Amino acid sequence: MYKISVIGAGNVGGLAALRLVSLGMGEVMLVDKLKGFAHAKELDLKDSQVLLKQDYPIIGTDDFSLIKDSGIVVITAGLARRPDMTREDLLAKNVEIIKDVSLNVKKFCPEAIVVVVSNPVDILTYAALKLTGIKQTKVFGMGISLDASRFANLIAEELKVSPNVIETVVIGSHGEGMLPLARLTKIKGVELLKFIDTQKVEELVKMTTGRGAQIVSLFGSGSAYVAPSAAIADIVKAIIKDEKRVIGVSCYLNGEYGLKDVYLGTPARIGKNGIEQIIELELNQEEKEALSKSAQLTSKHIENIRKSLN
Ligand code: 2OP
Repeated sequence: MYKISVIGAGNVGGLAALRLVSLGMGEVMLVDKLKGFAHAKELDLKDSQVLLKQDYPIIGTDDFSLIKDSGIVVITAGLARRPDMTREDLLAKNVEIIKDVSLNVKKFCPEAIVVVVSNPVDILTYAALKLTGIKQTKVFGMGISLDASRFANLIAEELKVSPNVIETVVIGSHGEGMLPLARLTKIKGVELLKFIDTQKVEELVKMTTGRGAQIVSLFGSGSAYVAPSAAIADIVKAIIKDEKRVIGVSCYLNGEYGLKDVYLGTPARIGKNGIEQIIELELNQEEKEALSKSAQLTSKHIENIRKSLN
């Protein structure tokens, strides 16, 4: 039986666990340092099983050793931003949390595929790679598939069509360097720019980039968790069912797009081995420059935490 551990039982981790239980993906291990918290979620999740017609084991614990033999570890632990904070502002606090989690992953399930969700995701995924010692194809971040879903939703609202006929492409960091690519976005195979003018597109791109912050500011405290947890479940399902589906994830780049030693969002094929292929898109000059700016920004933050990675 497949075992999936979700680290951090807050809004994102808790709802991700529910989605995995609902999909019948396997055993779900929910871990949170706060005593009793994950156990409470376990009881609540278990109480839903009859209604959901599922019966895989569910455990909620503060004991990290129980992640042993996990096939997938999803890391959601960490602080969420407050209004007027960027995701990058969380780095100093969250890198310490990721360090602790990563060392436990290294100790108890060094063969696992690790999906990082905590923010700033691209930088923390780099930290997880270095600290777990797991290979690059098995350590990646969730972020831009969520952004792509947001972009599609906003376009759908503008054009009054179903979001399901819209195929958006977002690359770059899941943060200040996010790049929703209107040029490569299609509606039933037809370019987005045939439907709306560039000014409207720019507005939608801006709304997509700011969507997470918009939700944080409306909540007042805490960030989005419904769409993020859906994006997690989508990735986990692609791994467990070996779908080899193209999903945008934060990947370790080693020459792709001319970039090295940095994590950034790009489409990739996801299957039972994790990242099975990084898809390098053909970018125009302007997009290349924007991506390399995104990489520079991310690399700068990586440099700032490098001493915590030893
Ligand atoms: C978001 O964009 C939490 O980063 C996540 O909402």
